[in-house]
Amino acid sequence: MESPFKVDALKGKVALLTGGGSGIGFEISAQFGKHGAAVAIMGRRRHVLDDAVRSLKSLGIPAVGFEGDVRKREDAQRVVEATVKHFGKLDILVNAAAGNFLAAAEDLSSNGFRTVLDIDAVGTFTMCREALEYLKKGGHGRNSSGGGLILNISATLHYTAAWYQVHVSAAKAAVDALARNLALEWGTDYDIRVNGIAPGPIADTPGMSKLAPEEMTSGNSRDQMPLYRLGTKWDIAMAAVFLASDAGKYINGSVMPVDGGLWLSKPRHLAKEAVKELSRTVERRSRVAPTGTPSSKL
Ligand code: COA
Repeated sequence: MESPFKVDALKGKVALLTGGGSGIGFEISAQFGKHGAAVAIMGRRRHVLDDAVRSLKSLGIPAVGFEGDVRKREDAQRVVEATVKHFGKLDILVNAAAGNFLAAAEDLSSNGFRTVLDIDAVGTFTMCREALEYLKKGGHGRNSSGGGLILNISATLHYTAAWYQVHVSAAKAAVDALARNLALEWGTDYDIRVNGIAPGPIADTPGMSKLAPEEMTSGNSRDQMPLYRLGTKWDIAMAAVFLASDAGKYINGSVMPVDGGLWLSKPRHLAKEAVKELSRTVERRSRVAPTGTPSSKL
């Protein structure tokens, strides 16, 4: 799909994306590149990085891949430094690396819980912390649109509750808290914006195949999905381009759900036609009821 944004919307920017070699992270890498940015991607698997960098380069995008695990501080530090060495600066950090699996809380060990928090929440903080010095330098002072940007890929699971994802919900709640708190501290002190995107179920991603395998999703109905389609990686990448571009320069500390309104959905308990009749009946009843009659007696 064609982008609605100008091709130079991110011209001259340098972005580092954790988890940038696959899924949503890769699509953001590609769209950042198509809008003028140079991209460094970080991931644990060399062959995934190599394939991704090859694809990006074939689109004419300046790209480089660095192996590393966001759980290791020395990896985070090395990759941030290597990115700056390679491209000369760092303007945007996207935290897209995540670790998820389905598990009932009673079957989940403390180590399983901790592992996901370590990747999603601690890993995001570690990357932000290591990138801070460079994002400060990437900025051009107060009252400008030139400050650095951090963008976290979150989720909507923790807005309510999610079956078999207590670990992921806790981790993403922490990731959102990071966005707001760093937006306050680093926005004030260094003109760095910190935001999040909360995707719903996105087609053709590792998250979708792990957290909502086909066996689970076949029963979805229009009533449970406001826009009645899965999101696409493109939907998320366009939100990222928007937030990274000058169009988003006053957006700080926000986590934008990009899920077609899915997290708000509830099964419809009454048909649309039936609600008119029921509502009229209730109104009629309340008009004829003597003043002071408790509603429980109606
Ligand atoms: N159900 C219950 N517990 C599980 C589990 C599952 N499906 N998968 C892993 N765990 C537990 C393990 O049992 C272990 O706990 P224990 O030591 O008490 O037994 C703990 O989690 C760590 O597992 P391990 O396999 O050693 O971790 P890892 O570091 O190799 O892998 C994961 C991390 C588990 C998050 C792995 O799924 C991963 O690497 N994911 C990255 C890709 C991904 O999830 N993408 C989706 C993005 S939305």
